Amino acid sequence: MSVVKINVLTVSAEMREELEKRFANRAGMVETADGFEWFELLRPVEGTDRYMVYTRWRSEEDFQRWQESRAFQAGHAQAAAEAGQGHGHGQAAPQGHGHGQGPAAAGAELWSFEVVQSATPKPGA
Ligand code: HEM
Repeated sequence: MSVVKINVLTVSAEMREELEKRFANRAGMVETADGFEWFELLRPVEGTDRYMVYTRWRSEEDFQRWQESRAFQAGHAQAAAEAGQGHGHGQAAPQGHGHGQGPAAAGAELWSFEVVQSATPKPGA
């Protein structure tokens, strides 16, 4: 059964562009992780002001393996460097940075789901 892991990022208005720029330049290593199925960076439009990093994995174990991997660290090198410390696994980054310094996200929260049902468009429909 696939699992969905959503990293929910709190991003101030002035850091939005910076966050999106970092993702535009992301390492692109998650694509090669075993069991990786899907990634989307979701920009909030209505109902929330938090960004979501949507990922889907073949299994919980595949996600855990990626989180412990060098690929995860490499994919978060900028975030970790700018935070000036080790990268928390889904834990809140230090608060109160701004004006282009520090991490683009002021906080992060990891949400986990099991995929119960899914659908894709029917060919020819
Ligand atoms: C303290 C927690 C986290 C923060 C603040 C954070 C923030 C970021 C940022 C700013 C980037 C862009 C690349 C960079 O700046 O180095 C990134 C990449 C990414 N993040 Fe996170 N992240 C965190 C934890 C997680 C977790 C738990 C997941 C799991 C869903 C995740 C999924 C991803 C993915 C898939 C990428 C792209 C990596 C690649 O291209 O290989 N992040 N993250």
